[in-house]
Parts: sequence; structure tokens; C-alpha cells
Amino acid sequence: MTDNTKKRKMRLWHVSFLPFCFLFLIFFLFQFNPNDEISATSMLSVDIINKTCKTCSDKSTVFNYTFCSASLQEIPVSHMTNLQGLAIVAMELALQNATNTLSIIKGLLNNKTLGPFSSACLRDCSLLYSDGVVTLVDTIGALLTGQYGNAGAWVSAVMEGTTTCEEGFQDMEEVSPLTKQNDSIFQLCDVALCIMNLLDSNVYILKSY
Ligand SMILES: *[C@@H]1O[C@H](CO)[C@@H](O)[C@H](O)[C@H]1NC(C)=O
Ligand SMILES: *[C@@H]1O[C@H](CO)[C@@H](O)[C@H](O)[C@H]1NC(C)=O
Ligand SMILES: *[C@@H]1O[C@H](CO)[C@@H](O)[C@H](O)[C@H]1NC(C)=O
Ligand SMILES: *[C@@H]1O[C@H](CO)[C@@H](O)[C@H](O)[C@H]1NC(C)=O
Ligand SMILES: *[C@@H]1O[C@H](CO)[C@@H](O)[C@H](O)[C@H]1NC(C)=O
Repeated sequence: MTDNTKKRKMRLWHVSFLPFCFLFLIFFLFQFNPNDEISATSMLSVDIINKTCKTCSDKSTVFNYTFCSASLQEIPVSHMTNLQGLAIVAMELALQNATNTLSIIKGLLNNKTLGPFSSACLRDCSLLYSDGVVTLVDTIGALLTGQYGNAGAWVSAVMEGTTTCEEGFQDMEEVSPLTKQNDSIFQLCDVALCIMNLLDSNVYILKSY
């Protein structure tokens, strides 16, 4: 068995366990705040979300405040009221996005009228996004245990992955069907990176722009 096949086997093994990890994480996240008083806490969490998004957008010219505020408010787990929880919410959303992207790619690859260049790009993207899914799960684990340095490096790797996917299409002069996916995941990662940086100013930010 070559090293590459081994790596691929490992990756597939990882991916097949993902639903379990995901359920476990969701379960774990809901344990954070068992005495959630809905109205009071959601006011508070909207406030912490907006404040955090504002702080991040003040630090960067490309950071999108509207995206940050709207996406963090999207899921009820944001009832958690600390920064670490917000970074985890951003990573959960990116994980959902990346998982959905894998099924979008699978659907596209089934299209018989796809040109050879597009198929090749999509197969590369499929590997990049399945690595991204595994890396995002690892990132959430690192965030839960406060390892912000590792988490920061892994989030940057995910951003590089979605960028490489887009560049694959650009190089072949093909229109990428995954531009929206890169955009959402990239921005969610950017939100998480900013929060990690607020939590630990030693996080090494490796932005690809
Ligand atoms: C938070 O920001 C959103 C979108 O910018 C806005 O609609 C909402 O009113 C803000 N909420 C608070 C409590 O500031
Ligand atoms: C910021 O994000 C919002 C919501 O996703 C989007 O409608 C808007 O076009 C974005 N703005 C920029 C400058 O990208
Ligand atoms: C990706 O994330 C964005 C922002 O959270 C969300 O609006 C969108 O519905 C997600 N898309 C998928 C396919 O999961
Ligand atoms: C396959 O791709 C072609 C060209 O992109 C598109 O017109 C067609 O609707 C797709 N077919 C399916 C079944 O998705
Ligand atoms: C991926 O999305 C981000 C955020 O919208 C954008 O800045 C970047 O240019 C995109 N990458 C590519 C290669 O299109």
C-alpha cells in the first residue's frame, strides 16, 4: 500500500465517523448552558455577537460585519454567551457548509455532460473539501480544549483548501460552481480566526489574501 492510499483510507475512515462526532459535538454544546432563559439570554447573545463582529470588522477592511452578525445568529447554539462559544458556532456552520459542499460536488460529478476539465477540478475539490471537513472537526476539538494556536493553523489550512479549489477552476478557465461555498466557508473561518485572536493574541494568522 502506498502512502497516498493509506492517507486516503484514513481520510475515508475519518469521514465515515463524522456524523457521530457531529452529534457528539452538538450534544456537548447544548450542555454548556443548561439554564438558558430564552428572552434574556438571546438579547445578551445578540449583543455579544454584534459587539464581536464590530470589533472584528474594525480590525480588517475585508471583514463583512453583516455576514458575521447574520450567520452567527442563524443557529440556536449561539445562545452561548462567550467568545469561545461563538468561534465554535462559526466552525459548526463552516462544517455544515463543507459537508453540504461534498454532496453538491457528488451531484455535479454525476452529470454526464460535464467537460473533462470541470470533472478533474471537481475531483480535486472533493478531496480538498473532505480534508476541510476533517480539519474543521479537529479545529472544533482544539477550540473546546483552548488550543487556539492549533485551531488557528487548522482554520487557515481550511481557507487555503477552498482557495485552491477555486484556483483550480481559474487555471482551467472554467466557471467554478463552488464560488458561493468558498465565500461562505472562507468568511466563517475568518470570523473564527478573528475571535481566536481576541482570545489569544498569539494565534498566528495565515490569511491567503
Ligand atoms: C445586531 O445586528 C443586526 C444586524 O446588523 C441588527 O439587525 C440587530 O438589531 C442588532 N442587535 C443588537 C441588539 O444590537
Ligand atoms: C456582506 O455579507 C452580506 C450577507 O452575506 C452580503 O449581502 C453583502 O453583499 C456582503 N458585502 C460585501 C461587501 O461583500
Ligand atoms: C453556508 O453558510 C452560510 C452562512 O452561515 C449560510 O447562510 C448558508 O446557508 C450555508 N450553506 C450551506 C449549503 O450550508
Ligand atoms: C448538467 O450540466 C449541464 C451544463 O452545465 C446543465 O445544463 C444540466 O442542467 C445539468 N444536468 C443535470 C441533470 O444537473
Ligand atoms: C474565496 O472567498 C473569499 C471570501 O469571499 C474571497 O475573498 C476569495 O477571493 C475567494 N477565493 C477565490 C480564489 O476566489
